Amino acid sequence: MVRFTLNGKPVSAEGGRSLLSFLRDEARLTAAKNGCGEGACGACSVIVDGELRSSCVTALERIEGKSVLTVEGIVEQEMGCYERAFAEAGAVQCGYCTPGMVLAAKALLDRNLTPREEEVRAGLRRNLCRCTGYVKIVDGVMRAARYRADAAGGLSAPNSAEYRGRPRPPSPSLAAGIGARLLRVDARAKIRGEARYVDDLVEQGMLFGAALRSPHPRAKLISLDVSAARALAGVAVVATWENIPGSRYTGHVVSDWPTLVAVGEETRYVGDAIALVAADTRAHAREAIALIAARYEVLTPLSSPESSMAPDAPPIHPGGNILSRLLLERGDAERALASAAYRVEETFTTPLTDHAFMEPESALAWPPDSEGTVVVRTGEQNVYDGQRYVADTLGIPREKVRIVSEYVGGAFGGKEDQTVQHHSALLAWLCGRPVKCTLDRAESTRVHVKRHPMTIRLRLGCDPAGKLVGLIATIVADTGAYASLGGPVLHRAVTHAGGPYAYDNIRVSGLAVYTNNPPAGAFRGFGVPQVTFALESALDMLASRAGISAWAIRYRNAVRPGDRLPNGQVAGPDTALEECLLAVRADCEAAPGSTGIACGFKNTGLGMGHPDIGRCILKIASDHVEIHSGAGCMGQGVATVLTQIACAILDIDTALVRVVPPDTATTPDSGTSTASRQTLITGEACRRACAAAREEASELAGAGAREAFPLALLAGREFNGQYEAVTDSFETVRTDPVHHIVYSYACHLAVLGPDGRIQRIIAAHDSGLVVNPLAFEGQVEGGVVMGLGFALREKLPLVDCAPAARFGQLGLFRAPDVPSILTITVRKPGPGSAIDGGVSGAAFGAKGIGEISTIPTAAAVAGAYYARDGVLRTSLPLEGTPYKEGP
Ligand code: FES
Ligand code: FES
Repeated sequence: MVRFTLNGKPVSAEGGRSLLSFLRDEARLTAAKNGCGEGACGACSVIVDGELRSSCVTALERIEGKSVLTVEGIVEQEMGCYERAFAEAGAVQCGYCTPGMVLAAKALLDRNLTPREEEVRAGLRRNLCRCTGYVKIVDGVMRAARYRADAAGGLSAPNSAEYRGRPRPPSPSLAAGIGARLLRVDARAKIRGEARYVDDLVEQGMLFGAALRSPHPRAKLISLDVSAARALAGVAVVATWENIPGSRYTGHVVSDWPTLVAVGEETRYVGDAIALVAADTRAHAREAIALIAARYEVLTPLSSPESSMAPDAPPIHPGGNILSRLLLERGDAERALASAAYRVEETFTTPLTDHAFMEPESALAWPPDSEGTVVVRTGEQNVYDGQRYVADTLGIPREKVRIVSEYVGGAFGGKEDQTVQHHSALLAWLCGRPVKCTLDRAESTRVHVKRHPMTIRLRLGCDPAGKLVGLIATIVADTGAYASLGGPVLHRAVTHAGGPYAYDNIRVSGLAVYTNNPPAGAFRGFGVPQVTFALESALDMLASRAGISAWAIRYRNAVRPGDRLPNGQVAGPDTALEECLLAVRADCEAAPGSTGIACGFKNTGLGMGHPDIGRCILKIASDHVEIHSGAGCMGQGVATVLTQIACAILDIDTALVRVVPPDTATTPDSGTSTASRQTLITGEACRRACAAAREEASELAGAGAREAFPLALLAGREFNGQYEAVTDSFETVRTDPVHHIVYSYACHLAVLGPDGRIQRIIAAHDSGLVVNPLAFEGQVEGGVVMGLGFALREKLPLVDCAPAARFGQLGLFRAPDVPSILTITVRKPGPGSAIDGGVSGAAFGAKGIGEISTIPTAAAVAGAYYARDGVLRTSLPLEGTPYKEGP
């Protein structure tokens, strides 16, 4: 037995396991999370005898006689300091890293209550955050230092005061009006470690699920013998392809992804599931998996689009190896380029990268209840997609599947596909008991979709004055083993490849090609960061050839209201790219040899004629209102935005608003949290529901009266809000197509320091009305840091088509690496540009920020190095910089 003190109380426990395992599984203290299990992320942080430690790699035996502190054990007065500081700073997004960050802050501040900013960054170096870009976490720690110092005797921390003396954003507010810096509604639960993620849940009689995965990217499954696994003590069920009652294939857009590979079928990547086990313990489940005898005929995998497109290449899917093919053509690009004064012809490549959301996938499913309903608790981007996957797999009507979302520990597009939802449901269905499937980090990296590697060949030309005349581009995307969202991603890549510039001769063709690599799908930016890197880099070279500055060529060509975007859509009246460029001009021109500039644009909403509907139900109770919406929050803060909209329309205090988590039984389908759409699409649905309630209240109170919202009078009433963004398909013959209801624009400036590292990023954004500047800045800072990783470090290497890097080797930025980031927002006065049959300015004129925040960064960084040494770098991560690649 190991004896130690836990949060001030003596405990004794069996050894032979990690401290994290003891905390979560036995002590039921779940603030410490399992983000990686390898000591790389800090989500499992605890303090042992005053030292910050990763509990996942700390053997229980090593804490004999020591004192362990978790977030749950921090005394209330001190916890109050962290809660206030982190919430005010906006330091919380998905919250999965947050308890670890609080402990890292405590470990630092216990030693030094007057830390300098660099000391705070150093103190956070072992803790990864994929959402925030660290800026607001550093701010949170500095604020916590002040609050702790004040609580300790009214002394202000001098270094903290110095920090506060720098230009900082205004203080956050409790006021909830549109444009207010309202604190996140879920901040308290996340900071205190009380927010429950799926793997924190334990159910009476629960079993643990595990999957046997294919060791080969391409192999024929010859035979499968599960008898030994079934005979193992503790095993409740072993499932193979023969046990699937419904459709064996599912998929987001194309049903091409097998829930379990059948005997006689070929595997398509190393994440393919061959068999599933549910057992009484994780250890027994893993043991049973090891007892399954699977025989394969190993085949040569197709490891690149080139090999998949070879004439003699075997088909990965029955329809062949091309998932999607697209051509965008306007004008006569060939002729325009032939007459161009200056031309650039280059080929650019971008790598496979991982979302690296901090919470690995988890789902807990129950067998059918007395009414035949299967319940699954999970964390994903749209509970209604999960409902479809599970219903299809089980062969039951969708209404017999209830998906409930717990908190989601980040996603960035990586939780739109099925990974564990259908597996846990299938196991629960077969064995009649609740089953939880949770991936460890290695399996998560092996299974979930990635960012598409792309090869982009382009020819770009301009006239003598630097005005663009034409672009011809070809894009080849490696979409991996399954379709996922590869088709739509290619679509966005093609339609955004021309950049936010006004010119008429464009031909962009794209191919998404199946390979035996990990599937590629949605990832923040949806194909646009890749093409933006290519186009903007070519633009830098073109500017050099034309003898004008990188800023000038962009300003000369920037799309303005009334101009046509590359896809032929007329830019809306609120298009403010020009203003973004003007906002960074002085800084850009101040140091021409060390700054890089790039522009970007990104659609908000699904567009392209797809149904795109936001729904919201406002339920009035006597002492509060409830907002019911299926809009998934992966950390971006949609619940806070909806709260803010409700407060603004109803004129009530935030304390009276509750946002109900997504649940197919109680919240309407608001579509998936993708394409930066929820603030606008579901935000407008919420505004409409609230406006209806407000109108009813006004009628009850008398014409024209605008008194306090009469909760008691309307108690029991429900108000529905729905907003449909109507758009034209890609194939439309309309001369003025509206492919997307609105676009966001941005211009990023990267400034190199004397040491050749990125010293500063200035991010100027036109995202329309900003509902919550605190959350908005958080999105920009997180997006910029993700973009820095894409530019400088991140790359998931494959060996024989299999991921060959641990989490700590992905190249993710840490707090000490992050430069200063300044967010500038610009907005053109006037109505919003949403054009959907007459309704303009939906959601007060808000546009999306989630994706555009990351799109121009890599290109701006590449531009900075090009400005410094004149070397055009054509692949990411960039070479010849002081930044070392991930693995
Ligand atoms: Fe322990 Fe990541 S879970 S360091
Ligand atoms: Fe840090 Fe999401 S808030 S990982």
